[in-house]
Amino acid sequence: MSAHRTETLPAESPRPAARPHPHPKPPGPRGWPIIGSAAELLHDSTGFLTRMARRYGDVVYFPLLFQTRTLLSNPDLIEEVLVRQPQKFEKGPGLRDAAQRLLGEGLLTAEGDLWLRQRRLAQPAFHRQRIAEYAQTMANQALFHIKDWKEGDRRDMAEEMMALTLEIAVRTLFGTEFTNEAKPVGKAVTRLMRYQIRRMRSPIKIPPHWPTRSNRRADRDYNYLDSLVYKIIETRRQALADGHAHRSDLLSLLMAATDDQGGRMNTKQLRDEVMTLFIAGHETTAVTLGWTWHLLSQNARVEEKLHAELDSVLHGAAPSIDQIRQLPYLDAVLHEALRLFPAAYIIQRTSNEPVTLGGYHFPRGTTFLMSQWVLHRDPRYFDAPEEFRPERWLDGLADRLPPYAYFPFGGGPRKCIGQAFAMMELGIVVAILAQRFRFTHDPSNRRSSQIALEPLVTLRARHGIPLKLSSRAL
Ligand code: HEM
Repeated sequence: MSAHRTETLPAESPRPAARPHPHPKPPGPRGWPIIGSAAELLHDSTGFLTRMARRYGDVVYFPLLFQTRTLLSNPDLIEEVLVRQPQKFEKGPGLRDAAQRLLGEGLLTAEGDLWLRQRRLAQPAFHRQRIAEYAQTMANQALFHIKDWKEGDRRDMAEEMMALTLEIAVRTLFGTEFTNEAKPVGKAVTRLMRYQIRRMRSPIKIPPHWPTRSNRRADRDYNYLDSLVYKIIETRRQALADGHAHRSDLLSLLMAATDDQGGRMNTKQLRDEVMTLFIAGHETTAVTLGWTWHLLSQNARVEEKLHAELDSVLHGAAPSIDQIRQLPYLDAVLHEALRLFPAAYIIQRTSNEPVTLGGYHFPRGTTFLMSQWVLHRDPRYFDAPEEFRPERWLDGLADRLPPYAYFPFGGGPRKCIGQAFAMMELGIVVAILAQRFRFTHDPSNRRSSQIALEPLVTLRARHGIPLKLSSRAL
């Protein structure tokens, strides 16, 4: 790749007010720090990206197998890509390869006119008013999910949260329920994420249709998820035909949608959209909840303050939509959990025309990485960045930060459509569970206090989050 520095741009492009970077940026060949190793990126992606950014600065270019990547770690440059010049970028081949079989041309992966049409179509289901209507269902599902939980239970909170958020997503978004499917879905999604990451790691790309053991296992998982999504669609078609279904929920909106020529979305398009919302609508929220319980279990002082706020405002009840807004410490805990463990820890874009960023020219086809993990732990923006300190959000930090120093939900036109949905769900679930239980590390389980990161498509905990429950008097 040929890239060279322009002399004028750095002086012209505004920079956020930031403290000096703790490490000087060493000059590499042609002024570029050209380093990197695919193995390091793929085996320890969060560590590798952090080391690159801290050691070499805001724009780092490195080889990756037979390609190259450019890591951007400056909020202003990230804003440039996501918000100011988004028309010059696409999600790119990496995401397509990893997600095509599962998500097809759904909202997360589609580009151009198809994406715009689908986004407009789905948007009303995420309107503030509609989301408020989901609050009661979220609370009911949370209470139902924990009805048999008791003092002394040992539970993998990563797995439990995956099941709970799936139950919430299928009820709120698709008006249906899965009684026995929640845990198998969680297992299938985890296996498929591992399968995709293994494929990305391997320099030899075995075609997915070759009958290897892992291809056949993945096929079974894909087929299982497909069958569930088609079941959701079929059940709703039947309910609509019988006049039993709510016509304004997300699934009905998608089914009723017509394109410019007046035609309906075909079954494959509908399947892609439902699958995307089915996966995106529960997985990231579950991961965030899992990390939140882990952080609380390790920080008794924070947990106590959270309990005090919840007890004084809610007195044991589930929060109403208005009460959620009166719980600033809960909100700060969630912000801080999303800062330290951003479920979506990396965003990728590929330029579809030449671009200039941070004083460098990049040709068409350059792939950029922007990592929430790296920015959220950058000491230029966060004091003691490795520490879990919800208090940092209580004195207006969000307004002082450069906009893309903290971006757990992305930004610009491709920003997460489910942000408000997710924040409400996180708040309701944490408020209900934390009023009933304390979660502490389980001394009988070595893994309970040594949680290992597993950065897959989202930021997972490799061996789950095993915790021990103790009941709180309500
Ligand atoms: C804590 C929870 C969540 C996090 C951290 C999160 C994060 C993100 C991020 C970073 C993006 C942008 C990706 C990019 O620019 O390449 C995104 C997009 C998206 N998210 Fe979320 N998300 C969460 C919850 C949800 C929920 C609950 C839903 C649906 C109910 C959802 C549906 C989507 C969809 C459909 C997109 C693609 C939007 C588009 O391209 O138009 N997400 N999410």
